Parts: sequence; structure tokens; C-alpha cells
Amino acid sequence: MNASSFTFTPENLARVDRIIAQYPLGKQASAVMPLLDLAQRQSGGWVPQEALDYVADFLKMPRIDVYEVASFYTMFNLKPVGTNLVQVCTTTPCWLRGSEGIVGACKKKLGIDVGETTPDGQFTLIEVECLGACVNAPMVQINESYYEDLTPEGIEKIIDALKAGQKPVAGSQTGRAGSCAQSGSTSLDLGNTP
Ligand code: FES
Repeated sequence: MNASSFTFTPENLARVDRIIAQYPLGKQASAVMPLLDLAQRQSGGWVPQEALDYVADFLKMPRIDVYEVASFYTMFNLKPVGTNLVQVCTTTPCWLRGSEGIVGACKKKLGIDVGETTPDGQFTLIEVECLGACVNAPMVQINESYYEDLTPEGIEKIIDALKAGQKPVAGSQTGRAGSCAQSGSTSLDLGNTP
């Protein structure tokens, strides 16, 4: 792929117009993150160098500024990833609730180590910092879905379902609503209001 081999599709160019229109005139560089996100989606889950350069040139930004943004935010993948990007949160609340077991189950089920991709290109396994769903720890993000209240057996079933081409039900795997206490809601429970 050479420097000119990445361009947004006509459909994404229309999206780009709508994104840039949200920013004041002359401040189009502020659209760098949504454009990188769009480039990542178009490129199959990662942002090749050619796409970084394209976005920089498109927004008339120094390329180094775009490299800095893309390398700072971990949601931008600068290397190819599998069809399913399995991101296991291992920050303290998830760790206290058993994230080590979740990582172990993923490694065993996928036959790869953290940071690796399965030979068929279907799964990449990484560890990430807090994804903001600590109340339902431990949790894993796979592509755009959060799977919460996990057990090692639970994540293995989710991986099995993905391997079978199914779309596992996202959210709490114990069925609790939102961040409700495991013992049931303790406040703002309108059902108990006389
Ligand atoms: S610590 Fe895992 S989601 Fe916050």
C-alpha cells in the first residue's frame, strides 16, 4: 500500500462532511479523532500508516500531530487485529473480581497469549485498562460490545458463540439491570414506593 492507496469511500466521505460541519470554520483539525475512527472501521479494525497520512493531509494537519493522537489513544490500533478484538480489562476493580481467570480462560480457549492473534485471524487478545464498567466487573469488550459480570466459563461460552458465527447477548451475564446491587436494588426502587 503506498501513500495514496487509502481514500475514504464515497459513503464515508459523506460522513466526513457531516462530521467536519460540526466544528467551527477553520477548526477542522478538531475532527481528527472521528476521522481516525472512520478510517479504522473502513480498514478492518486498524489504522494503517497510509490512512494516518491521508487523514492528516485531508485535515491539512502536520502528519506528526496525527501520529501523536493515534499513538496516544489506545482505541486506535496501529497494527492489524483479528475480526474479534477481545479486550480484557485487568485494572484493579476487575482484577479484584477475577480478571486473571478471565484472561486465563481466553488464552486457553483461543490458544494464544495476550497480544497475539489466532492463526485464522478471527481473534486478537489484549489486556486493557479500565473501560468504565467496573460496577459489573469483571468485564471484557469484544469489538463494540461489553460483556459484564463474567466468569471464566461465561467468557468461554461467548468465544464459542463467536466462533460459531453467532452474536452473544451483550451486557451483564447475570442479568442484573444496569449497576443494580447483586442482592437487588437498594435505592430509587419505584416498585417499593407506597
Ligand atoms: S476496572 Fe474494569 S471496567 Fe473499570
